[in-house]
Amino acid sequence: MKTIIRKPKKSTIGRLIDRIELFFVAHLFGMAIAITMGLMTRERMSHNNGIAAKGTFTFDIDPTIPTHPFLQQGKVLPCQVRHAMATFYDDAMATIRSLSIKLSDQSFQSPFDMNLNTGSITLFWNAASFLKLAKMRRQKWGIEYQDYYKKYPIGKAGAIETLRRNPTSFSNLTYYSKTPFNFIGDDGVQRYAKYRAIPFDLSVKESGIIEERDRLEPENQRIIPGETRNRNYLKNELADRLKNQPVKYWYQIQIRDAQENEDQSIFNCCIDWDENEFPWRNLGVITLNEVLDWDSSNKLGFGVVNMPKGLGCIPAESIYDYNSLNYMRAKTEIARKARLLAYKLFGMPKEIPENENRNSSTIE
Ligand code: HEM
Repeated sequence: MKTIIRKPKKSTIGRLIDRIELFFVAHLFGMAIAITMGLMTRERMSHNNGIAAKGTFTFDIDPTIPTHPFLQQGKVLPCQVRHAMATFYDDAMATIRSLSIKLSDQSFQSPFDMNLNTGSITLFWNAASFLKLAKMRRQKWGIEYQDYYKKYPIGKAGAIETLRRNPTSFSNLTYYSKTPFNFIGDDGVQRYAKYRAIPFDLSVKESGIIEERDRLEPENQRIIPGETRNRNYLKNELADRLKNQPVKYWYQIQIRDAQENEDQSIFNCCIDWDENEFPWRNLGVITLNEVLDWDSSNKLGFGVVNMPKGLGCIPAESIYDYNSLNYMRAKTEIARKARLLAYKLFGMPKEIPENENRNSSTIE
């Protein structure tokens, strides 16, 4: 089975070459999407179909979590989230659903942002596999990645885990950071952390988990023939729900101590950390009270660079390093800025119409 994994080079010069390659690949990719998507089409690289909401984040910290200056028991921060889908403009397709969190009331600046997607694992595991996925997308009429899934069954397994078809609400899904981050608290000990958000009501069952047909063919994300839900049904459901009641999530963390000669597979976002050994523990509660309009939703940008000291990205050494995914994300900040600039220059994108242009990868 092909996995696009390579052991780190041993020689100093070999490692230097790897770092230079990572630097150029990440910066060139960031620049390319800044121009082709941010500036030219005023779109995000992914997750364009979404809706934002605002409310508060209240720290309710499990006392067994190591202390960190940012984590202050009882403190309440403003919180904005964006619920979105990757990557089609049709809520009734089988797509990845997301919850991105920003602990501030600004469009971009924030002490803490986190992008979370449904499913605990993902379709790619390092920059090299991410670029393969992008290259092999070949999207047509809502079918994509068929060659990639054939070549990389691990990626297909990630898709099966992460896609959701016709969930009844964003509010009953569980969302994961998948990639690990640093966790260096007051004691200075090197630890690693993953994050997730789950419905506040623990009895709620997750909807939209894909079934037999979609599990066999995750490449076919098209709506089911005879679908009665409209293109915006899931966003509309959130807006209606928030008119009547708040939406609440627990925000949780999984932490593990670093080891000498670390087994690199702990950084692989296609492998879960054992929940018995590294239990999910509460950090706080997200309470959403109000939906944001289309323009404000679009203006929001979330970045892996928006993290407190000690909680940021784990350094990466090459495009094969699992941590290169977050390195790549950090270097795509320019795309976010380009998108915001394009809004100023050319105006905001128009809203997704409730027409019959189904399975669409454009806003029309
Ligand atoms: C498992 C890893 C990843 C997760 C969980 C993830 C999650 C997300 C989510 C949830 C969004 C939507 C944010 C919103 O609603 O505005 C997003 C957008 C985006 N992601 Fe990722 N992503 C991952 C990997 C990557 C990688 C490897 C890249 C690298 C190049 C990347 C680049 C971007 C960009 C450029 C955007 C749009 C930013 C904007 O214009 O605001 N992501 N991602």
